[in-house]
Amino acid sequence: MDTAAGTLTKYRMYIDGQWVEPASGNYFESDNPYLGKPWALIPRGNAADVDRAVQAARKAFTSGEWPKLNASKRGALLRKLGDLITDKSRFLAEIEVRDNGKLLAEMSAQTAYMAQWYYYYGGLADKIEGTVIPTDKPDTFNYTHYEPLGVVAAIVPWNSPLLLLAWKLAPALAAGNTVVVKPSEYTSASALEFMKLIEQAGFPAGVVNVVTGFGPEVGTPLVEHPLVAKIAFTGSDATGQRIYEAAAKGLKRVSMELGGKSPNIVFDDAHLDNAIKGVISGIFAATGQTCIAGSRLLVQQSIHDQFVEKLVAFARTAKMGNPMDLDTQVGPVTNKPQFEKILKYIDIARGEGAKPALGGARATRPECGDGWFVEPTIFTGVKNSMRIAQEEVFGPVLAVIPFKDEEEAVAIGNDVVYGLAAGVWTQNMRRAFVMAERLQAGTVWVNTYRAVSYLSPFGGYKRSGIGRESGQEMIKEYLQTKSVWISTATEVPNPFILR
Ligand code: NAI
Ligand code: MG
Repeated sequence: MDTAAGTLTKYRMYIDGQWVEPASGNYFESDNPYLGKPWALIPRGNAADVDRAVQAARKAFTSGEWPKLNASKRGALLRKLGDLITDKSRFLAEIEVRDNGKLLAEMSAQTAYMAQWYYYYGGLADKIEGTVIPTDKPDTFNYTHYEPLGVVAAIVPWNSPLLLLAWKLAPALAAGNTVVVKPSEYTSASALEFMKLIEQAGFPAGVVNVVTGFGPEVGTPLVEHPLVAKIAFTGSDATGQRIYEAAAKGLKRVSMELGGKSPNIVFDDAHLDNAIKGVISGIFAATGQTCIAGSRLLVQQSIHDQFVEKLVAFARTAKMGNPMDLDTQVGPVTNKPQFEKILKYIDIARGEGAKPALGGARATRPECGDGWFVEPTIFTGVKNSMRIAQEEVFGPVLAVIPFKDEEEAVAIGNDVVYGLAAGVWTQNMRRAFVMAERLQAGTVWVNTYRAVSYLSPFGGYKRSGIGRESGQEMIKEYLQTKSVWISTATEVPNPFILR
């Protein structure tokens, strides 16, 4: 599918089982953030492409092979896809790294692990059982079963493109839906490469489609398309809100994961060396570009200075450079607007009176070349009311806030509009349980950070989202319940009253 256009790799979209040109005939460049220059040409989709993909997905949902497959057979297809991912995980990781600059060390593990979502939901596909309800009505039999929704739109961002797609695609397909994928305009290549595996696994044409392009040109018509039944979205809360409003007009279902401003809370009774590693992994892993970034460090006053000093010393040793090198620890920022946004937030923090204890600028180390690198940055003297403590920066910028006691840690921890995750570092068991209970977050980690699994529900409180991903229960977000009543009466009773 790839043809050389100069030195750039040119992609086509995947609609109805075909590799197609965009209706507009136009392409846009996708950049390699490490080099700070383009490497691929991506089709610039529009409403016509969206309509074509949604019509194909609707057709695949209602006729042809897909609706005839029983759940066990759908599961088998998903497990086959899992095997193909396992074989190709290194290749997929390299595409991701070229396009979004995350570390190969992390992405190769992530693309391999991603297969688990397809295995898990493949296994779950034929274990969704309805119930027989012992009703109070005489001579009736009532049972429930679950049916798919129809066409699902999966809209994903650039930080973990294929993993976040897996979180949506695997349960959506296991449930029997069909899907139109819209990847981020910054990282579209991996979703298109992934469609080769969808093809190889043997999914019928139209069951999974990819339309590439920009939010207003592809995302908006996709969300508004009358044949789309549900939107599964990961991204910013601003875009999430816009999608929610548009979905409301069509009374469509939504599930959304919208980022956060998660507190990583260190008590004076913590194992401090482990806590330092946990704080580092919360904010500098993935160059801070994760929804679960522990971007607020809350440290107990009694250990504040000592902890910050050790943290700064550790963070200072982070090796920056080529994300393809396995010993690189901090890679570039995925895209130029994001790079500029992070630098702007660094200025805002300074303006608000926060003090950079480390970093606070673009990284100009020789190993960073022309890439979009930001120095790992730690701000002290932060008040929780400052913008640097309230707004999602999505970069390697940590805001350190001291607290007195448990009560204050909870108050500060919860005093943001978000509630995606929280970290707690303590060796006191009572405190661990109390904090886990009192923090308003969809995930709480105690003495660890950034642990996620296909087995465990993930999602946000407050402005961090609606619904959950992963785990058994969430497959219901891709299903609707039908209640069937069967009368065994020999005669129909009085028709003028409700029974
Ligand atoms: P975004 O939330 O605007 O984009 C995510 C996806 O939504 C992309 O595929 C985009 O094309 C699509 N989209 C944009 N507008 C749309 C619309 N009106 N209707 C339907 N789809 C639409 O995020 P963006 O612009 O890439 O990054 C902006 C900020 O979002 C970042 O600076 C970061 O703070 C945050 N972000 C949060 C993520 C998270 O996982 N929580 C992931 C990526 C970004
Ligand atoms: Mg890119």
